[in-house]
Amino acid sequence: ALNSLPWTAAPLKQCNPNDNACSAIQVQTIITEIYRKGLPELQVPAADPISLGDIRINSGAAQQSFQFNLLLSDTTMHKFGEMAKVRSAKGFTKDLSKPLKLSWDVRAAELEFRAHYDVNGKILILPIAGQGELVLTLRNAQLKSEVVAQPEKRADGHTYLKIMDYKTNVIIGSGYLNMTNLFNNNEELSRSTLKVLNDEWTTMEQAIRPNIMSAIERKFRAILQTILDTIPFENGSIFSK
Ligand SMILES: *[C@@H]1O[C@H](CO)[C@@H](O)[C@H](O)[C@H]1NC(C)=O
Repeated sequence: ALNSLPWTAAPLKQCNPNDNACSAIQVQTIITEIYRKGLPELQVPAADPISLGDIRINSGAAQQSFQFNLLLSDTTMHKFGEMAKVRSAKGFTKDLSKPLKLSWDVRAAELEFRAHYDVNGKILILPIAGQGELVLTLRNAQLKSEVVAQPEKRADGHTYLKIMDYKTNVIIGSGYLNMTNLFNNNEELSRSTLKVLNDEWTTMEQAIRPNIMSAIERKFRAILQTILDTIPFENGSIFSK
């Protein structure tokens, strides 16, 4: 009977409950096949690159040495679907009477963010000002997500997972920030400022990471919910086939 339903178009095989190795393959398939390419038959759009919209970063409270207002607009994140390698996925139990506590650990050798930027402030004792294009490259990112999902029986008689809570912690190995048109394209000032920014990577990363991460978290949660609204959760497996 399940085979006659449209969501069997999803490229997922059933796992036994608590088979974590199988769950890791499921999550990998969700990212590599569904997140990245979408499910056109089921109106799930491809999500790589994803749009993160506008991200405002007002640094200074926590970082004395970095005090700037940075607006990133039309921010996009690239390469996640292509780079993501799922290390583990846990928590897919058969018990539908209480929320599932899911967790997964995903590594990405490289992620790229692009945005229009507008910045004003200072780093160390140097002024920084300009508007232009920004490219942020992150290497060796480790994303650990903790997700609470409530099983819900819906009108079609199937059970779906509704996300109640979604948290992602990220650790970044290294990164590189590039910006065009700093100081109205003053090349020498621009080069020395970018050098300071990247030499002070740890401080800069701490300044920009929280707001970028919450934008990613919101987006990942929405994308995952769209996928989970499309394909049911049956017999302790994310999706059945
Ligand atoms: C930074 O961006 C400029 C302009 O696009 C480019 O010429 C330069 O090669 C980039 N630098 C790095 C290290 O990627």
